[in-house]
Amino acid sequence: MLLERLRAIVGSAHVITDPLTMRSYTTDWTGRWQGEAAAVVRPATTEEVSTAVAACYDRRIPITAQGGNTGLVGGAIPAAGSIVLSTRRLNSMDTIDPIGRTIAAGAGVTVAEADDAASKHGLRFGIDLASRDSATLGGIVATNAGGIRMVRHGNTRAQLLGVEAVLSDGAVLSRWSPLVKDNVGYDLPGLLAGSEGTLAIVTKVLMKLTTPAPETQVVLAGVGTIAAALGLCDRMRRHGLTIEAAEIMTAEGVTLVCSHSDARDPFAQPSPLYALLEISSPGNTEAAVLEVLSQLADTMDDAVVEPGPARKLWQIRESHTECISRASSTPVVKLDVAVPLPAMSKFIAALEAALAAEFSEVTPILFGHFADGNIHVNILDVPPDVSDAITGRVFEIVAAHHGSISAEHGIGRAKKSWITLGRSPVDIRLMKQIKSTLDPRSILNPDVLLPLAPADSAHT
Ligand code: MLT
Ligand code: ZN
Repeated sequence: MLLERLRAIVGSAHVITDPLTMRSYTTDWTGRWQGEAAAVVRPATTEEVSTAVAACYDRRIPITAQGGNTGLVGGAIPAAGSIVLSTRRLNSMDTIDPIGRTIAAGAGVTVAEADDAASKHGLRFGIDLASRDSATLGGIVATNAGGIRMVRHGNTRAQLLGVEAVLSDGAVLSRWSPLVKDNVGYDLPGLLAGSEGTLAIVTKVLMKLTTPAPETQVVLAGVGTIAAALGLCDRMRRHGLTIEAAEIMTAEGVTLVCSHSDARDPFAQPSPLYALLEISSPGNTEAAVLEVLSQLADTMDDAVVEPGPARKLWQIRESHTECISRASSTPVVKLDVAVPLPAMSKFIAALEAALAAEFSEVTPILFGHFADGNIHVNILDVPPDVSDAITGRVFEIVAAHHGSISAEHGIGRAKKSWITLGRSPVDIRLMKQIKSTLDPRSILNPDVLLPLAPADSAHT
């Protein structure tokens, strides 16, 4: 019955039930999360999303919204009996406003497509991440993505001006104002950012665009300690330079990437840590960067500087995710944490010591956006029955250092058992109240983010 109704709404070609074809929607690309769905529905307009969602609401059928399926915490993977609502056909590039510096586009437009469209007007899309060719605008809003330019422009929420979204009963919310000053009531777009498809389905987004720096310099510096990497950022800033990106990698990560791709380490001798900075300034950036590097020469093992975009240097960092996946004998345990900057050195030392002492069979690789306090803890070769224990142990160490168990990937299915390490009971109660107000029948991605109270779990 429901499938017939959905076929009538979106057309038979866009209701997929063949298990083999559905697999790319029900499995995430890391292979760690595998779900089952009754069907995949691919609407092309907001009206089709609204009618399809209303049909599911009437029948109390759960829906998992999915963009490019590039998430890393299982947040877009459906539970058995659900409908996957793919937003990829909502791919209209509506307007670029070069004066107000905004982009209005469908939720299925990819980050790379948004950036290409902005580039035609001499502007850039402010969010950038390695999965840019597949990650969609709806997806980055749902996860409040950060990425490599967050240190400069803030996360997705900071750049989101408006949304159009379909509520659980099919009603269409349009909070759509290009004004940067508009204080009428609650920040609903901000609430939907990071809600992981549990409060509404985003169909269109209105986001800020950024003005690119006329030129940048990319620095790869070999350093011995996190303190030296942070010192480098600090000195660049005090010198009047702007940090466009600040990434950290370890010798183990760089060696792994170089042996699983055609990337190469530019240094003659590996360094314990590699800080990759992209820097801009209103003046001669190269001269200013070289001056800072020479002032800090005794804190560095080696350094190279290249004019942006310096793709070969960036390749070493951006190939981490794929190479790590390829190298691990089991699906990688991908944890994405943040700690306050002053605690970062101690946190990393405590983490490495605990993993070596308690889980000697695994291979941890750390990398991430260190100036945001964000470290991606990737753990390879984890026997499946150890995955929860190791996750819990890492999160305990994060909590002991006053950090967050999710810096940018979200909670999804992967971390919901540990949400109490990040939010108080009152906070969780309030989030559940918001969830039940916006989704009273609990049909929107019911198995992610919030742990269910026993009474909520009837439909799973
Ligand atoms: C990245 O920054 O490359 C991704 O967010 C991290 C990951 O694969 O863990
Ligand atoms: Zn990241």
